[in-house]
Amino acid sequence: MKILIFWDVYWRIWRAALKKELPLLRKKYNPDFVIVNIENASSWRWPIEKHVVEIEKLWVDVMTTWDHIFDNMIKVKDYLDKIDSKLIRCANFIEYWEYNIAWKWYKIVEKNWKKLLVIHVMWEVFMNYKVSNPFLRVKEILKETELENLNWIIIDFHKETTAEWYWLWFFLDWSISFVFWTHTHIQTNDELILPKWTWILSDVWMSWPLYSVIWADYTSVEKRFLTWIGKWKIEQCLDKHYVVNWVCVEIWEDMKCESIEKIRIRGVL
Ligand SMILES: [Fe+2]
Repeated sequence: MKILIFWDVYWRIWRAALKKELPLLRKKYNPDFVIVNIENASSWRWPIEKHVVEIEKLWVDVMTTWDHIFDNMIKVKDYLDKIDSKLIRCANFIEYWEYNIAWKWYKIVEKNWKKLLVIHVMWEVFMNYKVSNPFLRVKEILKETELENLNWIIIDFHKETTAEWYWLWFFLDWSISFVFWTHTHIQTNDELILPKWTWILSDVWMSWPLYSVIWADYTSVEKRFLTWIGKWKIEQCLDKHYVVNWVCVEIWEDMKCESIEKIRIRGVL
């Protein structure tokens, strides 16, 4: 079973780059599933429904989100509420019945009678949000889904720090196929296979305009970095050179991961 994983569909340029590159990648890799983290799909704080639907139409199976999902929920709530929504939220946001947020915490996708579970959790260090314990939440979800006869399990752990991340790897090395980290905007070189064949990669990176400051137009951040004085507004970079990063993961039938390939393409729209 082959899965393509993309992280961080960056605003306008990368949505266009994804539209251009994904059909070609499909042809080349023939993946069973495609997972995309859409942290910056519409802006750096929340997605709008139009863009989420645009990405879904590229035959994406699951879209994971990020720390800002509740900042402007109204922009994507209708889509998220749909029964067949491809979007999931971090599973360990603190639930409170009055706010009715207790759904779409994880997703099981099925193809050719095989089931893949995707779990998305977040760690709160250096984030502006309080969440419940992600390790215990993952265990709860595994318990909730244990009768589903899952073939593969993948976790997107959205976080900044490293110690908890390393610990999660070892904590879960008994039933998870692949764990990857998102949010730090850099691809790491630490892919590793654990003793029981869980593959891990502590960041899958992002895909962005090549000549930008993460995703920002470099002139728009100049005032901030030089003086931090007065008002400054960060503009998105609209240069048409892009870089697309993703990983291709191969997993055997019995939950064990066979290989991981990190790939990068540069292009111009
Ligand atoms: Fe994030």
